[in-house]
Amino acid sequence: MNNKVYISNRNKLLKKISDNSIVILFAGEAKQKTADEKYAFTPNRNFYYMTGVHEEHHILVLEKINKKVNEVLYILRPDPVMEKWNGKTLRKDEAKNITGINEIKFLDELFNDLNNKFISGKIKNVYLDLERRSYEDDLTETQKFAKNLRDKYANVQIENAYNLIAELRKIKCAEEIEEIKKAIDITTKGVELLMKKCKCNMKEYELEAYFDFYIKQQGVKDFAFKTIAASGKNSTVLHYVSNDSLLRDGDLILFDLGAQINYYNADISRTFPVNGKFTERQKEVYESVLKVNETIISMIRPGITFLELNNKANELIGEECIKLGLINNKNDFKKYYYHSIGHSLGLDTHDVGERWGELKEGMVLTVEPGIYIEEENIGIRIEDDVLITKDGNEVLTKNCIKSIKDIENFMNNI
Ligand code: GLY
Ligand code: MN
Ligand code: MN
Repeated sequence: MNNKVYISNRNKLLKKISDNSIVILFAGEAKQKTADEKYAFTPNRNFYYMTGVHEEHHILVLEKINKKVNEVLYILRPDPVMEKWNGKTLRKDEAKNITGINEIKFLDELFNDLNNKFISGKIKNVYLDLERRSYEDDLTETQKFAKNLRDKYANVQIENAYNLIAELRKIKCAEEIEEIKKAIDITTKGVELLMKKCKCNMKEYELEAYFDFYIKQQGVKDFAFKTIAASGKNSTVLHYVSNDSLLRDGDLILFDLGAQINYYNADISRTFPVNGKFTERQKEVYESVLKVNETIISMIRPGITFLELNNKANELIGEECIKLGLINNKNDFKKYYYHSIGHSLGLDTHDVGERWGELKEGMVLTVEPGIYIEEENIGIRIEDDVLITKDGNEVLTKNCIKSIKDIENFMNNI
């Protein structure tokens, strides 16, 4: 992506922080997987959002002192011996081009620079990305840094940059939307391939492999998340990922998948019959889910809240479950639908930012109603990705086959 995007992201963050502050963001590092291997590295998304750099270890420092701003990226000093094993690391001129930051220094200069800043007394606040998932998790690199900072420089106040950056990330710029569209287009073609290759008595993983092969062929480096390929009863388990059952004649298969392009994600669910023909009962349930999907999408526009969409979806699914003969009281829908209607989508598949508030132009949201009837081996989810526009919305996944007729015709080459 053009470095103008990262420059603009940094400017927005610098506007939000108090004067006489610095922001320190870490790229992160690959976690150890086994004795001889690490997990594949993926950059901290807030660091990436501010820099476009996707290598481990580098650190970004932004400062605003007496309203004057300054930006420095500290990169790993190239190590010729290590480079013989792991390949070249980022160079100063490359870092400048990618980030649009003029001052690039080496990491071994960082602590001296920081010490000078802190003892000068000019820095009142240090903003760090203090995201935490749970109380039990180990301390992140940033939290260890914060702990050290508290011990060494008692006069500086530690602030959390996480929510500030999350609020920025909720609104996507044109370049980000382009990346999401690319991920969606490749995912859509991958879904078509799955529909074409699907046959009774394959294993779920065997069919899934066509998607893997296709997106890799398109240059995709990673998935948005682990693909869910859930046939029959498995489709009623929301996070079924073992994908090792046999595709049985007469069953449906639910795919929930996404390609990732430059760390921007697609998130699509489609459900189709293994043998290419829905049964009457499967059609009824599918039409119910589709109706909720389409009604909720039609409500999406700036000003409506996610909470309103979610409440409406619950109500509609309750009504559909009554029509399907599953329940008598629409408030009992939770037996057959047990998640929310969607989430923000971007650099994270479940993207950051406050979730329940007003929708604004530039947000991207998933709409993913489902009905899961374990006793009938039927689980159906239909998930689209929707951009909120000035006057309404654009369904970014509009080319992904969705109606019963289109699915059956496509699967049967009609
Ligand atoms: N694939 C995860 C989700 O749809 O939210
Ligand atoms: Mn999904
Ligand atoms: Mn989703």
